[in-house]
Amino acid sequence: MKTAITELFGIQHPIIQGGMHYVGFAELAAAVSNAGGLGLITGLTQKTPELLAKEIARCRDMTDKPFGVNLTFLPSFTAPPYPEYIAAIREGGVRIVETAGRSPEQYMPALKAAGIKVIHKCTSVRHSLKAEKIGCDAVSVDGFECGGHPGEDDIPNMILLPRAADELNIPFVASGGMADARSLVASLAMGAAGMNMGTRFVATKEAPVHDNVKRALVEATELDTRLVMRTLRNTERVLKNKGVDQLLEIEREKGASLKIQDIHEQVAGVYPKVMIDGEMDAGAWSCGMVVGLINDIPTVKELVDRIMTEAEQIIRQRLTGFLDGVVAKAPARAVA
Ligand SMILES: Cc1cc2nc3c(=O)[nH]c(=O)nc-3n(C[C@H](O)[C@H](O)[C@H](O)COP(=O)(O)O)c2cc1C
Repeated sequence: MKTAITELFGIQHPIIQGGMHYVGFAELAAAVSNAGGLGLITGLTQKTPELLAKEIARCRDMTDKPFGVNLTFLPSFTAPPYPEYIAAIREGGVRIVETAGRSPEQYMPALKAAGIKVIHKCTSVRHSLKAEKIGCDAVSVDGFECGGHPGEDDIPNMILLPRAADELNIPFVASGGMADARSLVASLAMGAAGMNMGTRFVATKEAPVHDNVKRALVEATELDTRLVMRTLRNTERVLKNKGVDQLLEIEREKGASLKIQDIHEQVAGVYPKVMIDGEMDAGAWSCGMVVGLINDIPTVKELVDRIMTEAEQIIRQRLTGFLDGVVAKAPARAVA
């Protein structure tokens, strides 16, 4: 399948693995790129630019296909040394960066001077248009369903994607709630040129996280995510667990007077506990509603191949069948 995204990034399939803290290590990024998608190393999981340089080198040893790095711009008192991270990306020969969080505007000159293609992940049409204006090559449009930070507008992808298609001139991928061939075909129908998946890629054999995490994703349903930190305007969609229950209780007690310090225990330093040690009740970690569509733990290649094979069947058989007067009796079910 060829789309504006496969052409832009030089990849075989229009499937991107979004940056994920403590998940997006070289093993997963290389597996996604080797499967024909675009794998991304999560820049800030590497505590220093030197460590990121090593992670990029490790990934290069595992794949000769294009891969990228996610750079998340967080609101923080002590900002990470972004120029040094960008230098590590440039010197590591990486030519694709997914930016997320705040606008990448101040770093665009450095990224562009290095010949880097930038895909900015954002949760609204206005932020997508801003990304287009400041020279991003593409955007990842992240709907309210998404795991992680859905923003504060709460617009789901059935509305957000066609709205983005109506306004944007640069290509975009659909992000949030994407799991299978149906997600991909629906995204293409709504104007996207591919899809970005986060949560789905965590439940794969190559994702370098504790088995408890993968098991929790298979067991959870679409009812099991919660939104936290709403009053701080830093909303995050996370998987429900005991730590998250405590967090929500504190949020209820404190109401509008909630400060980030009040929930420090439930949000700070949680990722290594969950992803490395498998402590599933440690606190808030990102997970999308799409968890309700995850029923297995395939290899990345099995997942990507399955998506592409079924997407072709949906397009060639189910959809053109409607035009040819063939009435499909059953709904389009996922194979796994
Ligand atoms: C465990 C986890 C960690 C994530 N960490 C980051 C991150 O550090 N930076 C970022 O830009 N997005 C992060 N995301 C968001 C994903 O890149 C992606 O946008 C999102 O998961 C898409 O929604 P989905 O989970 O429904 O596929 C994370 C998502 C998950 C599930």
